[in-house]
Amino acid sequence: MSYKNILVGYDGSDPSKKALKKAVELSKIMKSDLHIVGVVRPFQFAAVDFILPEEIEAYEKEEISKEERFLKEALEIAKESGIEAKTKVLEGEPAEELMSYADANGCDLIVVGHRGAGGFKRLILGTTAGNLVKYANQSVLVVK
Ligand SMILES: Nc1ncnc2c1ncn2[C@@H]1O[C@H](COP(=O)(O)OP(=O)(O)O)[C@@H](O)[C@H]1O
Ligand SMILES: [Mg+2]
Repeated sequence: MSYKNILVGYDGSDPSKKALKKAVELSKIMKSDLHIVGVVRPFQFAAVDFILPEEIEAYEKEEISKEERFLKEALEIAKESGIEAKTKVLEGEPAEELMSYADANGCDLIVVGHRGAGGFKRLILGTTAGNLVKYANQSVLVVK
Protein backbone atom coordinates (compact mmCIF):
# COMPACT_ATOMS: atom_id res chain seq x y z
CA MET A 1 0.00 0.00 0.00
CA SER A 2 1.22 3.48 -0.82
CA TYR A 3 -0.09 7.03 -0.96
CA LYS A 4 1.45 9.65 -3.24
CA ASN A 5 -0.04 12.84 -1.83
CA ILE A 6 -1.06 13.07 1.79
CA LEU A 7 -3.22 15.94 2.97
CA VAL A 8 -3.31 16.83 6.64
CA GLY A 9 -5.79 19.31 8.09
CA TYR A 10 -4.07 21.47 10.67
CA ASP A 11 -5.93 23.89 12.96
CA GLY A 12 -3.22 24.29 15.60
CA SER A 13 -5.03 22.07 18.12
CA ASP A 14 -3.28 19.23 19.98
CA PRO A 15 -5.24 16.52 18.12
CA SER A 16 -4.29 18.11 14.78
CA LYS A 17 -0.65 18.18 15.89
CA LYS A 18 -0.85 14.48 16.66
CA ALA A 19 -2.40 13.91 13.21
CA LEU A 20 0.38 15.96 11.62
CA LYS A 21 3.06 13.86 13.29
CA LYS A 22 1.44 10.66 12.00
CA ALA A 23 1.12 12.16 8.53
CA VAL A 24 4.81 13.11 8.61
CA GLU A 25 5.76 9.55 9.62
CA LEU A 26 3.60 8.11 6.83
CA SER A 27 5.00 10.41 4.15
CA LYS A 28 8.49 9.50 5.25
CA ILE A 29 7.81 5.76 5.01
CA MET A 30 5.88 5.99 1.73
CA LYS A 31 7.92 8.83 0.20
CA SER A 32 4.71 10.79 -0.36
CA ASP A 33 4.33 14.52 -0.79
CA LEU A 34 2.84 16.16 2.28
CA HIS A 35 0.28 18.96 2.04
CA ILE A 36 -0.60 20.80 5.24
CA VAL A 37 -3.77 22.86 4.94
CA GLY A 38 -5.51 25.17 7.39
CA VAL A 39 -9.00 26.53 6.80
CA VAL A 40 -10.25 29.81 8.18
CA ARG A 41 -14.00 30.08 8.67
CA PRO A 42 -15.67 33.29 7.52
CA PHE A 43 -17.05 35.61 10.17
CA GLN A 44 -20.21 34.26 11.83
CA PHE A 45 -22.83 37.02 11.66
CA ALA A 46 -25.29 35.36 14.02
CA ALA A 47 -23.01 36.03 17.00
CA VAL A 48 -23.51 39.82 17.13
CA ASP A 49 -26.24 42.41 16.46
CA PHE A 50 -24.23 45.00 14.62
CA ILE A 51 -20.80 44.99 13.08
CA LEU A 52 -18.90 47.24 10.68
CA PRO A 53 -17.46 45.80 7.46
CA GLU A 54 -13.98 46.91 8.53
CA GLU A 55 -14.37 44.98 11.77
CA ILE A 56 -15.19 41.86 9.78
CA GLU A 57 -12.19 42.45 7.57
CA ALA A 58 -9.93 42.96 10.59
CA TYR A 59 -11.28 39.77 12.18
CA GLU A 60 -10.68 37.73 9.02
CA LYS A 61 -7.18 39.13 8.55
CA GLU A 62 -6.35 38.21 12.13
CA GLU A 63 -7.72 34.67 11.68
CA ILE A 64 -5.70 34.22 8.49
CA SER A 65 -2.45 35.37 10.10
CA LYS A 66 -3.16 33.11 13.08
CA GLU A 67 -3.54 30.14 10.72
CA GLU A 68 -0.37 31.20 8.87
CA ARG A 69 1.50 31.04 12.17
CA PHE A 70 0.08 27.54 12.81
CA LEU A 71 1.22 26.41 9.38
CA LYS A 72 4.70 27.82 9.90
CA GLU A 73 4.94 25.79 13.10
CA ALA A 74 3.62 22.71 11.26
CA LEU A 75 6.21 23.19 8.55
CA GLU A 76 8.92 23.20 11.22
CA ILE A 77 7.60 19.97 12.74
CA ALA A 78 7.73 18.31 9.29
CA LYS A 79 11.19 19.71 8.62
CA GLU A 80 12.53 18.25 11.87
CA SER A 81 11.75 14.85 10.35
CA GLY A 82 13.30 15.79 7.02
CA ILE A 83 9.99 16.38 5.21
CA GLU A 84 9.55 19.45 3.01
CA ALA A 85 5.81 20.00 3.08
CA LYS A 86 3.56 22.33 1.09
CA THR A 87 1.24 24.57 3.08
CA LYS A 88 -1.91 26.49 2.21
CA VAL A 89 -4.46 28.62 4.03
CA LEU A 90 -7.98 28.40 2.63
CA GLU A 91 -11.15 30.24 3.56
CA GLY A 92 -14.53 28.60 3.99
CA GLU A 93 -16.06 25.59 5.71
CA PRO A 94 -13.17 23.33 6.84
CA ALA A 95 -14.43 19.92 5.62
CA GLU A 96 -15.58 21.33 2.26
CA GLU A 97 -12.32 23.18 1.65
CA LEU A 98 -10.19 20.19 2.63
CA MET A 99 -12.18 17.97 0.25
CA SER A 100 -11.87 20.42 -2.68
CA TYR A 101 -8.16 20.76 -2.00
CA ALA A 102 -7.72 16.99 -1.94
CA ASP A 103 -9.64 16.58 -5.21
CA ALA A 104 -7.80 19.42 -6.97
CA ASN A 105 -4.33 18.33 -5.87
CA GLY A 106 -4.51 14.59 -6.38
CA CYS A 107 -4.38 13.80 -2.68
CA ASP A 108 -5.11 10.15 -2.01
CA LEU A 109 -5.18 10.22 1.80
CA ILE A 110 -6.60 12.79 4.20
CA VAL A 111 -5.27 12.76 7.76
CA VAL A 112 -7.02 14.62 10.60
CA GLY A 113 -7.28 14.52 14.36
CA HIS A 114 -10.42 13.15 16.02
CA ARG A 115 -11.11 16.53 17.57
CA GLY A 116 -10.08 20.06 16.86
CA ALA A 117 -9.92 23.55 18.26
CA GLY A 118 -13.34 24.39 19.67
CA GLY A 119 -16.10 21.86 19.42
CA PHE A 120 -17.65 20.02 22.36
CA LYS A 121 -15.43 18.05 24.71
CA ARG A 122 -17.87 15.13 24.94
CA LEU A 123 -17.87 14.66 21.16
CA ILE A 124 -15.72 11.69 20.30
CA LEU A 125 -15.58 12.67 16.66
CA GLY A 126 -15.52 16.34 15.65
CA THR A 127 -17.76 17.63 12.88
CA THR A 128 -14.95 18.27 10.40
CA ALA A 129 -13.52 14.80 10.92
CA GLY A 130 -17.00 13.22 10.71
CA ASN A 131 -17.92 15.04 7.50
CA LEU A 132 -14.64 14.04 5.88
CA VAL A 133 -15.21 10.39 6.75
CA LYS A 134 -18.75 10.62 5.33
CA TYR A 135 -18.24 12.69 2.21
CA ALA A 136 -14.60 12.70 1.05
CA ASN A 137 -13.64 10.86 -2.14
CA GLN A 138 -10.38 9.78 -0.52
CA SER A 139 -9.52 7.47 2.34
CA VAL A 140 -9.50 9.31 5.65
CA LEU A 141 -7.27 8.54 8.59
CA VAL A 142 -8.68 9.89 11.85
CA VAL A 143 -5.84 9.90 14.36
CA LYS A 144 -6.76 9.25 18.00
N1 LIG B 1 -10.13 24.78 10.23
C1 LIG B 1 -9.46 23.65 10.02
N2 LIG B 1 -8.42 23.62 9.15
C2 LIG B 1 -7.74 22.47 8.95
N3 LIG B 1 -7.99 21.31 9.57
C3 LIG B 1 -9.01 21.30 10.44
C4 LIG B 1 -9.80 22.45 10.71
N4 LIG B 1 -10.73 22.12 11.63
C5 LIG B 1 -10.53 20.83 11.92
N5 LIG B 1 -9.51 20.32 11.21
C6 LIG B 1 -8.98 18.95 11.28
O1 LIG B 1 -10.02 18.10 11.73
C7 LIG B 1 -9.68 17.51 12.98
C8 LIG B 1 -10.93 17.37 13.82
O2 LIG B 1 -11.46 18.64 14.09
P1 LIG B 1 -13.02 18.90 14.20
O3 LIG B 1 -13.74 17.79 13.51
O4 LIG B 1 -13.26 20.29 13.72
O5 LIG B 1 -13.28 18.77 15.75
P2 LIG B 1 -14.03 19.79 16.74
O6 LIG B 1 -15.48 19.64 16.41
O7 LIG B 1 -13.63 19.30 18.11
O8 LIG B 1 -13.53 21.18 16.43
C9 LIG B 1 -8.59 18.43 13.57
O9 LIG B 1 -7.75 17.73 14.48
C10 LIG B 1 -7.86 18.84 12.31
O10 LIG B 1 -6.97 17.80 11.91
MG1 LIG C 1 -13.33 22.24 14.57
